[in-house]
Amino acid sequence: MAEIRSIVVIGAGQMGGGIAQVAATAGIAVKVLDAFPGAIDKCRGLHDKLLARAVEKGKMTQGDADAAKGRIGYLPIASLDVVSESDFVIEAIVEDAKVKRDLFAQLANATRAQILATNTSSISITEIAAAAGDAADRVIGMHFFNPVPVMKLVEVIKGLATSEKTTLRTIALATAMGKTPVPANDRPGFVSNRVLMPLINEAFYAWMEGVAEPAHIDEIMKLGCNHPMGPLRLADFIGLDTCVHIMDVLADGLNNDRYRACPLLKQLVAAGRLGDKTGRGVFEYGK
Ligand code: 3HC
Repeated sequence: MAEIRSIVVIGAGQMGGGIAQVAATAGIAVKVLDAFPGAIDKCRGLHDKLLARAVEKGKMTQGDADAAKGRIGYLPIASLDVVSESDFVIEAIVEDAKVKRDLFAQLANATRAQILATNTSSISITEIAAAAGDAADRVIGMHFFNPVPVMKLVEVIKGLATSEKTTLRTIALATAMGKTPVPANDRPGFVSNRVLMPLINEAFYAWMEGVAEPAHIDEIMKLGCNHPMGPLRLADFIGLDTCVHIMDVLADGLNNDRYRACPLLKQLVAAGRLGDKTGRGVFEYGK
């Protein structure tokens, strides 16, 4: 199997930026695309900061950090012309099924043999792949976790039409990036969010029903279950709107109301308290 030397990452947000950084650090040439110039500048700034910190901590030499930065091309464009020059495409745009379907239809036209991976956390791979028509066998789920430079897992999800070759190349890329690929099937929430989100949702119920204060719920789960963050802190980190969205996918996809988002979680979202990204969710964060 030919080595993957260059990738295109579409979407320069937290996930896309993290994926680009990890790939470049692993020696892979990366082009990261985002139609919003602000997003590209922010992504470049974050890479500079995180790589400088890695050098300060002695985890990387200055030469390696410079080489990693030199492997990343930042493109503030929506045009997909560059995808045909790469070996592999990873999509990390907004979590909206229609927007992703439209993009995959365009990607299918713009590519011939490249793997078209999506970093979706909850949208059906089979549904996204259907938009790619004849290229559906090249579409796969490649679900990274936040913060991407730290988290080891890549959940690899095959759609109905995904070929064995696509799966093997995706596993090879994840491994080359220093991650551990683990397979899951294309069912709502895959494995990670099928298990994690109900846990987070239950923590909101525990808070709503007065079982304990939010800080105490988190402390109990951290010290009692060895979780690095309590479930409510983690919900803020993920984004409370994202948590509601994933619970909706589970409830609708599994046709079971036990997955409905907790009313208190929905209320915080309605109030605009989305977590870290708005400075306030369950907890308050300084600037
Ligand atoms: N980017 C890069 N590196 C980061 C980082 C970031 N955004 N945030 C933290 N780090 C690094 C730090 O530099 C530090 O590195 P070092 O050990 O080399 O010095 C290391 O991570 C630990 O960081 P801190 O000491 O600042 O803080 P913590 O020890 O509290 O760790 C944490 C922070 C890694 C975020 C840890 O709390 C954690 O693992 N939390 C759980 C994260 C998690 O569950 N993520 C999955 C979310 S679900 C998801 O993404 C799926 C989606 O579909 C919803």
